[in-house]
Amino acid sequence: MDYFVSDDQFNQLYPPAIAALASRHWTPIQIAKEAAAFLAVGQSPKILDIGSGVGKFCMVGAYFHPQAEFIGIEQRGSLTTIAQDLAKKLALKNTHFLTGNFTDINFHAYQHFYFYNAFYENIIDNDPIDQLIDHNPELFNLYNRKLYKALKPLPIGTRIATFHSSEHEMPSSYQVVGIGSHEDLKFWIKV
Ligand SMILES: C[S@@+](CC[C@H](N)C(=O)[O-])C[C@H]1O[C@@H](n2cnc3c(N)ncnc32)[C@H](O)[C@@H]1O
Repeated sequence: MDYFVSDDQFNQLYPPAIAALASRHWTPIQIAKEAAAFLAVGQSPKILDIGSGVGKFCMVGAYFHPQAEFIGIEQRGSLTTIAQDLAKKLALKNTHFLTGNFTDINFHAYQHFYFYNAFYENIIDNDPIDQLIDHNPELFNLYNRKLYKALKPLPIGTRIATFHSSEHEMPSSYQVVGIGSHEDLKFWIKV
């Protein structure tokens, strides 16, 4: 079966409780396809998903762009495990998932980035992924500042696709060069 044709098909690959979170927390297939097409440029690019959840963006990217490598960093180990198991089941060799905080990642090891408003959970109360992580408005500001600092020194030409971003994390050296089919999907390039 081609799981990549629709969100309904793809989300059924996840345990029911995880699939139930999809409309709020996991990137829709169409958005992932558009973002991945923008990011998967050049020879064998390494693309980092900052807050990769259960790996939906990375798996869509890996499926449609076999020449690129999609790596996810996710703070919740249980979600990383689900992503790793699914990547194996789908025989996707060009996607990998790490557990940890994005603040510990060396951004220079990657060429391009995807960011689906990972920090928003710190400033909203409804529909959380779980109750296991400390939610704190100060973390929202701290993570935005850390991401800003990580993005700022990257080389000219670095690409980022953001979905529902507050844009606090984007240094002014990144310019919007396009908008996706959804107005909250933005394509940025460092100039
Ligand atoms: C909106 S979900 C997006 C998931 C995935 N990128 C996708 O599009 O399907 C954001 C994810 O970021 C993770 N996250 C939030 N803050 C993080 C941090 N500081 N480091 C790593 N992951 C983080 C959350 O646990 C959550 O799984």
